[in-house]
Order: sequence, then structure tokens, then C-alpha cells
Amino acid sequence: MERTLVLIKPDAIANKYIGDIIKHYENEGFKISAMKLMQMTEKIAAKHYAEHIGKPFYENLVKFMTAEPLIAMVLSGENAIARVREVNGATNPEKAAEGTIRKLFAESVTKNAVHASDSIENAKREIAIFFSEIEIFD
Ligand code: RTP
Ligand code: MG
Repeated sequence: MERTLVLIKPDAIANKYIGDIIKHYENEGFKISAMKLMQMTEKIAAKHYAEHIGKPFYENLVKFMTAEPLIAMVLSGENAIARVREVNGATNPEKAAEGTIRKLFAESVTKNAVHASDSIENAKREIAIFFSEIEIFD
């Protein structure tokens, strides 16, 4: 059993895809163990995207992620970290496989609808940025 951090990004909220995206994860068998609507600050962004600080897309990414509210969730299930990334699809929606969330709902490489943790260490680290243990129900 693994936990992973998922963000429904501001583009997907603005495009009214919250319900479709949550349904997608539920249909894939994941449990929603935690969920909140919130707005990312620059400080949270710097923590969450620490590995991307200094990359050419970083400033644009933070501007987008902090401009409007997003949904943070903890999804649980067997191999949830790798499986959620499969369900999300490739970072660039043009390269995402048919039926993936990014293929269905993303606008662009930056506005790509969803985030998911990419390793056990990052899942632990990212979940702790958004949730305290008493807000998570496995
Ligand atoms: P995520 O972290 O959102 O699940 O996406 P990912 O692992 O597939 O992509 P990552 O490399 O971690 O990048 C984080 C987010 O930064 C934006 N990005 N823009 N070349 C670009 O303009 C570019 N590359 C990445 C995307 O929003 C990506 O999801
Ligand atoms: Mg990533």
C-alpha cells in the first residue's frame, strides 16, 4: 500500500474538470485518503518544486501554480505512486497516451491538469507539505 500526493492544477479547476478527474482516479481503484481546496503560495511552491528551482520553466510554473486555487489530495493504493503517474500520462499532453488524464484534460506542458509524486521519498516529502497526519484517512 502506497500513498502519493496529487494536485489538480489551477487550469483543470478553471476548466471545471474536478469531477471528471476525481472520477477517473476512483475508477482506477485509488482511495482518496485526503483532499482540500487551497491556493499555493510562493513559499509552498519553492518547497514542493525544490528540485526544479533554477530550471528555465520554474518561474512560469510557479506563476501558474500560485495564481488560482488548486486541489491537493492524497491517493492510496497498491503501487499508487507509479500507477497514478501512468493514469496522469506524459508531462506534455501532446505526448500523453490516449485515455490518460493529461490527454483528456490538459491544455499545455505547463497547464497540464495534474501533478503526482514520482518516488516514495518525494511522496512522503510532498504529502507532509500539504497535510498533517490527522488529515489523512487510509
Ligand atoms: P508533475 O511533477 O506535475 O507530476 O509532472 P512531471 O513529473 O511529469 O513533470 P516535472 O518534470 O516534475 O515538471 C513539473 C511541472 O513543471 C511544468 N513543466 N514545464 N518544459 C516546460 O515548460 C516544463 N517542463 C515541466 C509542468 O507543469 C510539469 O508538470
Ligand atoms: Mg514531477
